[in-house]
Amino acid sequence: MYQSAVIQGIKEEDRPKLSQWLPRDWGSTEIIHRGIKYEADKLPGFIAWRGSEPLGYILLSGSQQEWQVVVLRAFVSGHGIGSRLLSMAEKLLIQQGGGRLWMITTNDNLDALRFYQRKGFHLCQLHREAAEFSRTLKPSIPKFGLYGIPIRDELELEKYIEPPQGTPPPATHAP
Ligand SMILES: CC(C)(COP(=O)(O)OP(=O)(O)OC[C@H]1O[C@@H](n2cnc3c(N)ncnc32)[C@H](O)[C@@H]1OP(=O)(O)O)[C@@H](O)C(=O)NCCC(=O)NCCS
Repeated sequence: MYQSAVIQGIKEEDRPKLSQWLPRDWGSTEIIHRGIKYEADKLPGFIAWRGSEPLGYILLSGSQQEWQVVVLRAFVSGHGIGSRLLSMAEKLLIQQGGGRLWMITTNDNLDALRFYQRKGFHLCQLHREAAEFSRTLKPSIPKFGLYGIPIRDELELEKYIEPPQGTPPPATHAP
């Protein structure tokens, strides 16, 4: 259905749209992970489009061999948009010669935990009660999340991305 989707790097003219989507999707343009505040509307990333219709977005933070997926959002689930956006982050790391891609999700987000683990990510850390601390910086983080599960902990997932055999080394270090 969305095979015609095109993935494009975020341009400055897209930023006002991010400023609308982020509060709708996450309560604010500020995203908190482990007590670190991200001005998510200013981050680099990619948007999936079908014509002029946006289908989802991924926002990244990092450099060189270590990138974090700060936000990944498909506006319609189950049509491959999340997979395609995530693969753009993996390609970015391959261009850098490989490295670590990681993200944080909350304990209630069973769909995201399934999605990432099926994409080859490993759970690498449990940050117990971290959501309580994040709530001190962003009080709008709800007490209860998906499936009525209390949002308490933050779970970190990671995947080490290796360039395919024979890939030439990166020409530059910075993206
Ligand atoms: C988690 C999330 C990003 C996944 O994105 P998505 O676009 O739904 O994921 P995909 O469609 O790429 O893949 C999910 C499943 O749909 C399947 N799928 C892919 N293309 C499909 C299609 N055309 N039709 C039906 N199913 C399809 C995939 O095979 C996959 O199933 P599998 O895991 O059994 O293999 C999305 O559900 C989302 O935005 N959730 C809310 C925000 C969130 O929690 N983000 C993560 C934390 S930052």
